[in-house]
Amino acid sequence: MNEPSPAAQHRLTEDPNIGRVLLTEQQLAERIQELGAQITEEYQDRRPLMVCVLRGAYAFTTDLAFAIDLPVEIDFIAVSSYGSSTRTSGVVRLVKDLDVDLTGRDVILVEDIVDTGLTLRYLRRSLEVRGPASLEVCTLLAREAADLEGLGVKYVGFTIPGDFVVGYGLDVGEKYRNLRYLAVYEPDEVSTP
Ligand code: PRP
Repeated sequence: MNEPSPAAQHRLTEDPNIGRVLLTEQQLAERIQELGAQITEEYQDRRPLMVCVLRGAYAFTTDLAFAIDLPVEIDFIAVSSYGSSTRTSGVVRLVKDLDVDLTGRDVILVEDIVDTGLTLRYLRRSLEVRGPASLEVCTLLAREAADLEGLGVKYVGFTIPGDFVVGYGLDVGEKYRNLRYLAVYEPDEVSTP
C-alpha cells in the first residue's frame, strides 16, 4: 500500500494520536438540543447570561446558545490550570475577566468539562460574590469520579470515564479543539502534539 502523503499526514482526521471516537457529532448535537430545550423551559421569562469558560467551552457555548429559544446574553471568562500540560497545576489563574456586571443576573456558567472540579470551585467562589440572582452550571462533560452535587452542577451533557479526551473545544497543547467530535487522545513516543 502507498504511504500517505505529507499533506495527508498533516490532516487532523489522519492524526495518529486521535484514538477511539467517544462521542460523534450527532450524539453531541442531539444532547445539546435536549439541554437547550430544558434551559428554554426553565428560564421561560428570563434573559439568562451565559458565561463561557474559555477556551475549551467555546464550541459548546455556541451550539448550546443556538439551541436555547430565549434572548440570551453571552460573556467570556478565561481561566487556566492546565497550561500546555495534560495534568492540572493545582492552581487556577484568572486570565480574562467578564465584561458584564453580574448583579441581579441569571447566570449559566458553561463549561466543557468538569474533571477534578478545581476550576469550577474557583469560578463559583469568584462569581457568587458578585451578586447574581441565580448561578447554575452547565457542563458538556463530567468525569464519572467528579462530585457534581457538591459542585452544584445542574446540567450535564455526558458523564465520561477517565480517558484523556480531545475535540469539540478540548485540546492538548492547543491542538484538536476544532475536531468536530470527541475522541480519546492516545499519545505515543514518536509523535508529539
Ligand atoms: C480545562 C477545562 C475546564 C478545566 C476542568 O481547562 O476547560 O475549565 O480544565 O478541569 P478541572 O475540573 O480539573 O479543573 P484548561 O485549564 O485546560 O484550559 P482551556 O479551557 O483553555 O483548555
